[in-house]
Amino acid sequence: MTGARRHLDDRAVAGDGTPQPHKFVLTRVIALMNQKGGVGKTTTTVNLAAGLARRGRRTLLIDLDPQAHSTLHLGTNPDEVKVSAYDLLLEPERAGEAARECRPNLWLVPSVTDLAAAESELASADDRQERLTRAVAVLRSRFEFILFDCPPSLGLLTLNALAAAREVIVPMQAHFLALQGLGKLLETVHLVGKGVNPRLRVSGVVLCMHEETTKHAKEVVADIARFFEESSKQDLPWRGARVYKPPIRRNIKLAECPSFGQTIFEYAPTCPGAADYERLADAFITEWDALLARRSASGGDEPLAVTIPANAPAGAVR
Ligand SMILES: Nc1ncnc2c1ncn2[C@@H]1O[C@H](COP(=O)(O)OP(=O)(O)O)[C@@H](O)[C@H]1O
Ligand SMILES: [Mg+2]
Repeated sequence: MTGARRHLDDRAVAGDGTPQPHKFVLTRVIALMNQKGGVGKTTTTVNLAAGLARRGRRTLLIDLDPQAHSTLHLGTNPDEVKVSAYDLLLEPERAGEAARECRPNLWLVPSVTDLAAAESELASADDRQERLTRAVAVLRSRFEFILFDCPPSLGLLTLNALAAAREVIVPMQAHFLALQGLGKLLETVHLVGKGVNPRLRVSGVVLCMHEETTKHAKEVVADIARFFEESSKQDLPWRGARVYKPPIRRNIKLAECPSFGQTIFEYAPTCPGAADYERLADAFITEWDALLARRSASGGDEPLAVTIPANAPAGAVR
């Protein structure tokens, strides 16, 4: 553990021997977003969150999709949920009641189908886009990572995620059409960011269901990398974004484990899917720890975004 870690140690106890609550000064808040369905958002959110938790990083997954796929994937029955993301959006100050520990170090704010109703119920509220931001403010000191699984649309739920997050990760497949969609999606993040969250950054793309051996996939990956490279000098939210390594290979075990309510680490811990998500979680931890170390060394001047190089203007500091 480096000096840059910003929380009281898990095992910290007060002078009288009582355990201290977790207290994180800095939290990595990520929206996993793609307007397209079936690209691997939920699979990535759940297994990345599980991978982080397995490394001892306290992680919260907020399921913002009324389909409740992340909730089901983690073995929680939405019909039995008492306090959900729906309640969290209606009463952000009570967000603490919606988070439940579902694995060691892994907490879930479950979704329910009623969440779809929240979009219309909140439609006339002045602060309708900032509900999740308020909830995260209540919760963030308890977690080192907070991940939002977004629905495949650009409705109010996704807008709340884009307002509350510091980073966007785009799970996608390496198809030609997906590349076209990526450009549009990034523009959307840009526009939304300008309105509700100017500090929002796109950290990168996670390639899902990847077929590394096909020529087509290789070409698309090279195109995405080139696209990010070309944007690297412009002041855009995806400046410095990358294609995360490793890509997540197509692996049938990843498709099977949700129906057992298990993460890939529980269902098939030695399969390629588990290996890929473990390495991905490690990549997220490494870049986060490196950022915190730089920030610590610079006396807190380093922007809190993994995408921005160390020489970024101080105006970008969060
Ligand atoms: N790497 C993978 N290999 C095989 N199947 C996958 C992989 N990633 C996702 N899937 C399957 O593809 C489908 C869509 O994935 P999902 O994560 O639910 O996408 P989204 O949340 O974007 O709609 C699901 O049935 C899921 O189990
Ligand atoms: Mg999903």
